[in-house]
Amino acid sequence: MFTQRLSQALADKQQNFSYRKRYVCQPAGKFVDVNGKQYLNFSGNDYLGIASDHRIKNADLNDLSGSTGSSLINGYHPAHQALEAEIADWLGFEKALLFSTGFSANSSILKTLMTDKNGLILQDKLNHASLIDGGLAAAAKSVRFAHNDMFALEKKLIANLKENNVNKNNASETLIVSEGVFSMDGDSAPLANISSLARQYQAGIMLDDAHGIGVFGKNGRGSLAAQNINPASVDIYMATFGKAIGSSGAVVCGSQTLIDYLVNFSRSYIYSTAMSPLQAKLTSRAIKMVQQDDWRREKLYENIAYFKHLLSCAGFDDTGSNSAIQPVIIGENETTLMVANQLKQSGIWLTAIRPPTVAKGSARLRITLSSAQDKTDLDFLVSQLAQALKLTPQNVNSQIQTQDQSMITNMQNS
Ligand SMILES: Cc1ncc(COP(=O)(O)O)c(C=O)c1O
Repeated sequence: MFTQRLSQALADKQQNFSYRKRYVCQPAGKFVDVNGKQYLNFSGNDYLGIASDHRIKNADLNDLSGSTGSSLINGYHPAHQALEAEIADWLGFEKALLFSTGFSANSSILKTLMTDKNGLILQDKLNHASLIDGGLAAAAKSVRFAHNDMFALEKKLIANLKENNVNKNNASETLIVSEGVFSMDGDSAPLANISSLARQYQAGIMLDDAHGIGVFGKNGRGSLAAQNINPASVDIYMATFGKAIGSSGAVVCGSQTLIDYLVNFSRSYIYSTAMSPLQAKLTSRAIKMVQQDDWRREKLYENIAYFKHLLSCAGFDDTGSNSAIQPVIIGENETTLMVANQLKQSGIWLTAIRPPTVAKGSARLRITLSSAQDKTDLDFLVSQLAQALKLTPQNVNSQIQTQDQSMITNMQNS
């Protein structure tokens, strides 16, 4: 019936180089095996190399069973209860609640909480699709503000007061929603400024820290700890387990009331099979490693600094990111795909990120760094990147040798 329309939509995607296809991938440490060929992996989110650690790989398979039901029927296992308590304690929140995926958590939270049609959801323009979907499904109005632009955010807060002819103290429910570290740009939200605006305008805050947890802050507590923000000033904190924690699933943290409300009203929570107990145990094990293994974070930070240094020596613009996500923006879809394909031929696995995931004209290579990689891997990546973009790798290497050899030697020895 609709085959012709679907075929046409797919053909259009092919035409503008935005067609997506899947590859069967088997990641292992810094490598990924694709169709029997091994590549250096610069595309995964295993920022701390936890997913491939032998302690995770040799997890106790006695727990290998499903949860056999939703959490409110019979699926809430002691492993879930223990993990929730561990996370709440680690991150400094009253309570925590597990979801099977970050997408289901985000898309459900805003819809479930923002039920007042006079309410307002203010979303950073670069927020993840799951937050945008949640906002659109909520009864409250969703408005986006320019990325990390506090002036733009305040303007929207003021406009809302004017529109409803109210003052700061009796404004309708307003929630500011941001990521801690942005998934396609790798930059961080200015949390102290967001928190001060929220206080000033009596707004709440929801933070998605999918890419900050594990990577930043003491013991990997994430963006709040890294920016010295008291968890009590964030109403809803959400993080996923599928990035630095090396597992999968997600957690929502906040007050006892928030969590009780979600248990009672979140349709994604109530009507979905709970994550498997095995998954909860694996995640708990991985979180202990994240907390204890400071060396993973230190190695990742060294890799980030070294990679940015190499890029700058090769004449690339700064990526604007100090996180594990390092975007190299190329612009057009076709060129970005071509560069990604050329890198694949050199044994480097990278994905070309194209609209609508990112803005039109800002197609990019989303390079992800990990503590599993070594400096020689980064040397190879940047030289291949420079070659693919017609910068001369010889220049890259000689510039590095003459300009900053001592700094690199220090980093290598540290
Ligand atoms: C910022 C952000 N939030 C939420 C999600 C969704 O999480 P999950 O992959 O667990 O569904 C992602 C995943 O890619 C993400 O980058």
